[in-house]
Amino acid sequence: MAGRNPGEHVMIRTADREQCPTLSSRESSSPISSKSNRHPQDVLRFIHITDTHILDGAEDTFHQINTKRSLQAVLDHCATRYPDADFWLFTGDISQTGAKQSYALFESAIRDYEVPVYCVPGNHDTPHLLQQVVPECPVDSIRVIELGKFSLVLISTWIADGHHGKISQRCLAQLREHLKNRKDQLNVLVLHHPPVPVNSKWLDEIGLQNKTDFLQILDNHPADLLVLFGHVHQNVDQQINQLRFLSTPSTCHQFKPNTPVHLTDPLPPAYRFVELNTRGHIDTKIHYVQ
Ligand SMILES: [Fe+2]
Repeated sequence: MAGRNPGEHVMIRTADREQCPTLSSRESSSPISSKSNRHPQDVLRFIHITDTHILDGAEDTFHQINTKRSLQAVLDHCATRYPDADFWLFTGDISQTGAKQSYALFESAIRDYEVPVYCVPGNHDTPHLLQQVVPECPVDSIRVIELGKFSLVLISTWIADGHHGKISQRCLAQLREHLKNRKDQLNVLVLHHPPVPVNSKWLDEIGLQNKTDFLQILDNHPADLLVLFGHVHQNVDQQINQLRFLSTPSTCHQFKPNTPVHLTDPLPPAYRFVELNTRGHIDTKIHYVQ
């Protein structure tokens, strides 16, 4: 995919400017953060990829799957099927182990594609190590990627001691402020843990702990919102008033939906394509990669 000068159309900002170097300084240090090859005007087209669970060795397997190879197959499919996607969005659990070697393998999997990559950390990740590979990964503050008439709001739900997630009071306040100030934008909110129940008891117990606080902020926002999340390793598509909630099967193993306990679903690796226009219309499709 041919790259374009990102400075033409993409601005990155954060609620905590001290932690957000200028776009140019980040780009020069990270080839994978070169920006969109397509100027998003009235339409945003992107790929949602989640729960890659990369291990520490290139030949290591998890649930009998080589997660690096299954990710690579998914990325090849995305690049061929959607060569003009604006960016690839990863919603956490990039690594299974949280170790530096796993992030080096992830970086080696994505480095040959000249497409912007954004992400949030999952419960299996080590956020500051992930941020070394994807500089826009949020840690202590939300990250807002402005893409023309759209805002991509990256929110960390990572906590140090558990598989469930929580958004800090600081990030909730930043989100509230962002939505108040940018009513003209179509906002895409991105986090790892599901902020809505998914009808699987075991997953709902390890979802977003303070989902009520999060949803209350969204309820006070009059415009359409799209919320994307990971963690559940299955297709989720829920519409609640003006809010659309989407999740996507993993690039490795899947979980059976609507079960009280953890059961593996023998579906292949997958990703989701999303096309969104400024009127709030969403076209989306999941692709399974055999
Ligand atoms: Fe996961």
